[in-house]
Amino acid sequence: MSKSGVTNVGKENMTEGIDDKSKRRFLIAATTVVGGVGAGFASVPFVLSMRPSAKTQAAGAPVEADISKLEEGQKLTVEWRGKPVWIVKRTAKNLDDLPSLRVKLSDPDSAVEQQPGYAKNPTRSIKPEYLVVIGICTHLGCSPSYVKEDDPHDLGNDWKGGFFCPCHGSFFDLAGRVYQGVPAPTNLVVPPHAYLSDTRIVVGVDSQEGVAS
Ligand code: FES
Repeated sequence: MSKSGVTNVGKENMTEGIDDKSKRRFLIAATTVVGGVGAGFASVPFVLSMRPSAKTQAAGAPVEADISKLEEGQKLTVEWRGKPVWIVKRTAKNLDDLPSLRVKLSDPDSAVEQQPGYAKNPTRSIKPEYLVVIGICTHLGCSPSYVKEDDPHDLGNDWKGGFFCPCHGSFFDLAGRVYQGVPAPTNLVVPPHAYLSDTRIVVGVDSQEGVAS
């Protein structure tokens, strides 16, 4: 993985279709902003003009994401503190599948502190449909691939979707929970985040009952 982690973001999802990749690039360009850009959908030039400097981002400025265009099953990536942060809109089936995976996981109840308190729950999230995790493997720092249940894969017939790190073969479910018997020792990290509205998330700011503090 590169130092910034961003290069890997561009390479990591071999299994997404072309449409998904195009949408993802669009979403990344259209949503990485800082501060209270409150008006609905902003043009890309405007958004780019509002982006913080690399120095400010590296220092840990909160990053705001517009999730209004995110469709079920899609993953949006924003950069926070030089790391890729994934926002995945899970389907109802994804959520239904999570409990059935418990017996295969190392830390199904998120006992290890890899998430804020408001994400220590069965979906590891504030809102069940949206997963927000740092897209860096907890083994040695590669960026795993997002592999949906319906994507072509050789991860087994019982694969319910999640993240696969090909570096040394670690698997995570769609709550970022690590499977047993893989090199990665812990679940993916859930960063501090909060909802500014139904369609806007800010990463880097802690939530208090789902609202930015
Ligand atoms: S870095 Fe992911 S399995 Fe080693």
